[in-house]
Amino acid sequence: MKAIILAGGAGSRLYPLTQVSSKQLQAVFDKPMIYYPLTVLMASGVRELCVISTPDDLPRYRRLLGDGGQWGISVEYREQAKPEGIAQAFLIAGDFIGSDNVILMLGDNIFSGGDDFPRAVSSFSDGATIFAYHVKDPERYGVVEFDRAGKAISIEEKPQHPKSSYAVPGVYIYDNTVLDIARNIKPSARGELEITDVNLEYLKQGKLLVHRLSRGFAWLDAGTSTALHEASSYIEAIERRQGIKIGCPEEAALVRGFITIDQFHALIKNMPVCEYSDYLRGVADEWHRLQGDGQ
Ligand code: DAU
Repeated sequence: MKAIILAGGAGSRLYPLTQVSSKQLQAVFDKPMIYYPLTVLMASGVRELCVISTPDDLPRYRRLLGDGGQWGISVEYREQAKPEGIAQAFLIAGDFIGSDNVILMLGDNIFSGGDDFPRAVSSFSDGATIFAYHVKDPERYGVVEFDRAGKAISIEEKPQHPKSSYAVPGVYIYDNTVLDIARNIKPSARGELEITDVNLEYLKQGKLLVHRLSRGFAWLDAGTSTALHEASSYIEAIERRQGIKIGCPEEAALVRGFITIDQFHALIKNMPVCEYSDYLRGVADEWHRLQGDGQ
């Protein structure tokens, strides 16, 4: 399974923050926003990633994430010259996807809790798997309607009159036919290749699985200054209470076995003294304690 993180767009709703740096590089509490979706993907076992962003912002992502080797993953980069729709990601990164299945993740979606994504990834075989999350303001999202048996029967993009309170978060798992589907959809009235049209095609073919995320799961929006602030507060509250960080790629790499404990120590050594490296030192101590090697 390969994965694309889509991290382009104008970020106009976060102006003036986005005048000098892309939305998905903004801080969500103590980390750049893109660390959160990246870590979800790594925790789901994905090791081959492609980041898509604007020509201006790509060099900044390269500086932040490098080639991914430090975390035992590979990261490639592709440009989206103009924000012409989420589904354009498949056209841009077609050569990266090759003949594999692919997860598309929006770089501004932040999740916390549950093992829904790793499970969905490991049980995926074909068709498409998307997710549904109960929200107060479904009209801002793709909205999925279910019949009495819990089967998805319609999806609408930002409907004025939503048929349910279930929004579709920005994580989509597709088989390789997504490449053909994306090639054949037409731009919407707002001039974008809509991800909802891709999902509708799978629904029409009877190949769409919609997994409802549980109540305890948090899906946070970071699209406006207020939402960004709320997301930061939420992450801070959970991290402070639990003493565990959300969205920490170094930790995910160690836990998943993408890097060894020696490589983990080497990463910490290259970091400045700060809360983040203190935390990672604690993770290493815990790792040694659990191994019983008394280091
Ligand atoms: O967040 C989930 C929602 O994301 C879904 O429920 C909707 O169905 C889906 O259309 C999308 O809605 P948004 O209104 O949030 O899409 P937005 O245009 O804000 O783009 C989402 C992210 O993708 C944002 O971080 C910018 C990036 N993006 C977007 C477009 C259209 C790109 O990198 N390139 C693009 O061409």
